[in-house]
Amino acid sequence: MDKVIDFINVNRDRYLDELKGLLAIPSISALPEHTDDVKRCASWCAEEMGRIGLQNVRLIDTPGNPVVYGDWLGAPDAPTILFYGHYDVQPVDPLELWESPPFEATIRDGELYARGSADDKGQVFMHLKAIEAHLTQNGRLPVNIKLIVEGEEEVGSLNLDNFIAAHKTELAADVVVISDTSMFARGVPSICYGLRGLVYTQIDLRSSKTDLHSGVFGGAVANPAFVLAQMIAQMKDKSGRIKVPGFYDDVRPLEPVEREAWAKLPFNEKKYRKDFGFARLTGEVGYSTLERTWARPTLEVNGLLSGFTGEGAKTVLPAVAMAKISMRLVPDQDPQKIGDLFEAYVRKITPKTVELTFSRMHGGKPWMASFDSPFIQAAGRAIERGFGQKPVFTREGGSIPVVSTFQEVLGLPSVLFGVGLPDENAHAPNEKLDLSNFHNGIIASAYLYEEIAQTTVPA
Ligand code: BES
Ligand code: MN
Ligand code: MN
Repeated sequence: MDKVIDFINVNRDRYLDELKGLLAIPSISALPEHTDDVKRCASWCAEEMGRIGLQNVRLIDTPGNPVVYGDWLGAPDAPTILFYGHYDVQPVDPLELWESPPFEATIRDGELYARGSADDKGQVFMHLKAIEAHLTQNGRLPVNIKLIVEGEEEVGSLNLDNFIAAHKTELAADVVVISDTSMFARGVPSICYGLRGLVYTQIDLRSSKTDLHSGVFGGAVANPAFVLAQMIAQMKDKSGRIKVPGFYDDVRPLEPVEREAWAKLPFNEKKYRKDFGFARLTGEVGYSTLERTWARPTLEVNGLLSGFTGEGAKTVLPAVAMAKISMRLVPDQDPQKIGDLFEAYVRKITPKTVELTFSRMHGGKPWMASFDSPFIQAAGRAIERGFGQKPVFTREGGSIPVVSTFQEVLGLPSVLFGVGLPDENAHAPNEKLDLSNFHNGIIASAYLYEEIAQTTVPA
């Protein structure tokens, strides 16, 4: 193993140059004008996977963006890892808030700034470099590995469930490894054992054929912006509870052991407020900030649009109003069922003065593992070897929809070992990856394969 680690240490600078090439490709899955860039990024990943010595490398077409596949299956007696990551990234707007161009990776103060640096290209690349180190130094890996890197995670992984169902036998493995989450804090390596699920919806209201003169008509007809605001106001009560009937029926209560463990994590509420500029924290009464974001469901307005929003004043009654509303779910809530309950509630609270169009976008199931799983313990040892420190166990508020699919369709447990940071600015301007976490992450990944190789698969 020393040779492998030495190789990683010696090649540190080369890794950055190569990663900059990957980060230069604007593979924004949400924007149709970037379709070619997304394809180019898939090809870049495939070429790199071939170059480091993976086999059977290919792009597998889906109705959307291709999945990049590669494997190395030369350890017949060892377990098989299914590695998952995504090569697509979020849009970059507002562009003017970036301190350096989002697709020209720039190093400042030990951080690599670029869209996708942390979410998720940098973290995928970390594993490619760990694999490369094993293959060049030993000619082999201690485990078998199958990699799938997808290009639609940031738009809800719409084609991935079908992809997995269609390739069930080829994807057979013992454990899934994913690096697409964050460390609890700087200097606190972490393993994530729970993710929230998601339901994403849109509400469109229309009250008239066109916008109207607000003096001529105001007072006699409904204003959809106002109606929408009143509807949104009926979605949560004063204590932060969601008012959709049945919403909490399947929510698994927080275990006392989790509450106790989380209370011991190095979380400083005051620092959290200051770091992000929150005037005050708020949320569901009776729960701490970590509990609110990790273990409780939420309903949020992602966007609101109506009427005149330009400079100056225009006296107008808007004809339409729109809101994008999503709910983060926790075990054992089901996105389909919650979507149905929410739609029924929205229909019920929509007054007859407006016409409602309700649409559903993507969704995903929540996920939770038990952290005494032997694979999670193996990851704990690898992280300790890579970071010189035992990891903490976290849940996260974000969603990776495919993780529950791996469990349900392939029967596979997942190990989520991420090296992002809470202030990495994922999905926001100035996304960044801490270079020492990236480097230690490569080393920990190299150890992870070795630790998993020695893990006996539970019958
Ligand atoms: N890497 C994130 C998921 C994540 C974020 C996990 C923070 C843990 C902490 C992923 O790329 C992501 O952004 N997921 C989306 C999923 C959605 C588009 C279905 C999310 O959580 O909003
Ligand atoms: Mn991600
Ligand atoms: Mn993301």
